[in-house]
Amino acid sequence: QGNEAEVAAFSVPSYACQRRTTLENHNTVLTDALSLLAENAELSEEDGRGVAFRRAAAVLKALPKPVASMTQLRGLPCLGEHSLRVIKDILENGASSEVESTKQSERYKALKVLTGIFGVGARTADRWIRDGIHNLRQLQDSGPTLNRAQQAGLEHYDDLNQPVSKSDADAIGEVVEKAVVSVLPGAHMTLIGGFRRGKLTGHDVDFLITHPEEGREVGLMPKLVSWLESQGFLLYQKTTRNSYLESKDGPARPASNMDRFERCFSIFKLTKEEKRGTKHPETLTENGAQTPDNGGLDLDLDLDQTKPAGHKPWRAVRVDLVVSPISQFAFALLGWTGSKLFERELRRWAGHEKSMSLSSHALYDNRQSKYLRATSEEEIFAHLGLEFVPPSERNA
Ligand code: GTP
Ligand code: MN
Ligand code: MN
Repeated sequence: QGNEAEVAAFSVPSYACQRRTTLENHNTVLTDALSLLAENAELSEEDGRGVAFRRAAAVLKALPKPVASMTQLRGLPCLGEHSLRVIKDILENGASSEVESTKQSERYKALKVLTGIFGVGARTADRWIRDGIHNLRQLQDSGPTLNRAQQAGLEHYDDLNQPVSKSDADAIGEVVEKAVVSVLPGAHMTLIGGFRRGKLTGHDVDFLITHPEEGREVGLMPKLVSWLESQGFLLYQKTTRNSYLESKDGPARPASNMDRFERCFSIFKLTKEEKRGTKHPETLTENGAQTPDNGGLDLDLDLDQTKPAGHKPWRAVRVDLVVSPISQFAFALLGWTGSKLFERELRRWAGHEKSMSLSSHALYDNRQSKYLRATSEEEIFAHLGLEFVPPSERNA
């Protein structure tokens, strides 16, 4: 029959790490809807539901064509009853009533605005909402005690809620690179996170730093941070120390997926000079265009009326720095490239299918009771019995 081909069922493997997910998404309407429900679940601390929606969205991101009918979805993994109902609603009515009502709900809007402050998580936002704080003005008026991160987050709210462009990421990369080689010649830096996957914008910029001689990276982070601070590049920073090597029981396997590298969560001050200093002259025109200070956010609030809006010669950007010893570099690179769901699926695959434990430090084989070494991402995929997936195809 002629139209049988059109309704041919899709087929995808069940783990996201078995799939190639590029940035070309043929089902953005459906995946945006499911991602919003995932986000709402995460903001409500319902992590199980959040993951279920993320997995469903990831399956649709991997499809080669737009979904035209429900019958095409038969047999696809990770599509639960709830996700199927949302998809059906959109295919039949053009929108999902649940997604629309979530978007409109006061609670969702408040959670979004409050967790949009760097340093504010779902739990804090929930507590504030129960105290009657739904927006930034109410937060300022009722004045709960803010920690240092939250104060910085509030101060740079507009900047930090604007997407970071690849050219901004490159400009910051040049500064960080310069800092790295000044404080430790021979050390090198790699762009990780979403930009390594080829994304054109991000919520932050992530860098991994190492030195080809094991041990030489020790003490690098404080020096790097001091250098950046002395040059006036940091508006905020919080460095956490590496505790992986400090455990008394030797190189025991990591107790959790939380990794224990030396890392630094920072807010970077990106000036117009740094932007101009990049090797990419085409960024000049892009930077010439004035962007409104308030991003896409419907805040209707000027935090400091005395401050001239939108004319400062710099912007604040979230930057994450991670330092890894060379022996763990491949694991750190794989673990910090993302996407978050891809990482989660790699660990699930390792545990459930291979009886192995994967972290950003190491891969442990429970059957052989030993660590499996690797000096490249390719080797780690091979240990896991997976086909290699390049960073640009890890956008699950
Ligand atoms: P955007 O920044 O939103 O553009 O996307 P992104 O993929 O870069 O996300 P993000 O910067 O939040 O994280 C980058 C990668 O680092 C993801 O794969 C995360 O799983 C990973 N990551 C973030 N925080 C941690 C952490 O505390 N420990 C470990 N091991 N990985 C982390
Ligand atoms: Mn990132
Ligand atoms: Mn990050």
